[in-house]
Amino acid sequence: INIELPDEQARFEAAQRFKISLYFATWWALNVVFNIYNKKVLNAFPYPWLTSTLSLAAGSLMMLISWATRIADAPKTDLDFWKTLFPVAVAHTIGHVAATVSMSKVAVSFTHIIKSSEPAFSVLVSRFLLGELFPVPVYMSLVPIIGGCALAAVTELNFNMIGFMGAMISNLAFVFRNIFSKKGMKGKSVSGMNYYACLSMLSLLILTPFAIAVEGPKMWAAGWSQALSQIGPNFVWWVAAQSIFYHLYNQVSYMSLDQISPLTFSVGNTMKRVSVIVSSIIIFHTPVQPVNALGAAIAILGTFIYSQAKQ
Ligand code: 3PG
Repeated sequence: INIELPDEQARFEAAQRFKISLYFATWWALNVVFNIYNKKVLNAFPYPWLTSTLSLAAGSLMMLISWATRIADAPKTDLDFWKTLFPVAVAHTIGHVAATVSMSKVAVSFTHIIKSSEPAFSVLVSRFLLGELFPVPVYMSLVPIIGGCALAAVTELNFNMIGFMGAMISNLAFVFRNIFSKKGMKGKSVSGMNYYACLSMLSLLILTPFAIAVEGPKMWAAGWSQALSQIGPNFVWWVAAQSIFYHLYNQVSYMSLDQISPLTFSVGNTMKRVSVIVSSIIIFHTPVQPVNALGAAIAILGTFIYSQAKQ
């Protein structure tokens, strides 16, 4: 038995590694597809508040159907669960709509370059609002992250202030979402998949009145018929794809969060951005200057240094 144990341990670890790699690959692939269809939709139909709402609505509907047909077990929740989820949902809603507004104004790659600086926001919020202290190398790693993003921003050919601020607000909101959801997922009575389903539903309730107030049915109807006449019936499939893939990539990312540490998760998230940046530049023929690419590379490298320093 003693001789066989290390073998079994190795097999278990290899299976675990395989499972996590599969989660990561699925998460990134779904995210790339989401980003492409989301931008295609926004180019023809520049109403990010509605597309953000539709993403949450599609996810909520898919999960309600899965629970009703018992494809997935519905979670057992109480009032306390929803109360704890509320701040997470507010942060998720703000971060989601801000990123979508950003992508409606600038290239997908630019939004994700700015979003790769999320760890810097995490350190600053933890330091100044929560009083958490970090070792010096962690602070040092913020220099390339912030410097690289700044270089990418000032050399961005199609810079737009709303696009830039949207990505920055999304960073800040998602740091709060992560801080609040760490508390909410504690105890693990609800799986990652169901936790994200509940988060979608609550966010949908929060976002809908704001989307109606900011854009509203009149604008949507006019924009929709214009997009339909410009693109043709395929436009409806693009909207469906961006909405469904938004839910799927987030669901897989919350499922993988169940299995890995927040640190591994944030490294995975940065690597995800590299695949989104590269694929969107190729697909949308985004013009990039060498110095602009250098800024992005420095920022992303900074995030890896950050994860090493934090370890
Ligand atoms: C959104 O619409 O919520 C953003 O695209 C999310 O970005 P992220 O999940 O890549 O941080």
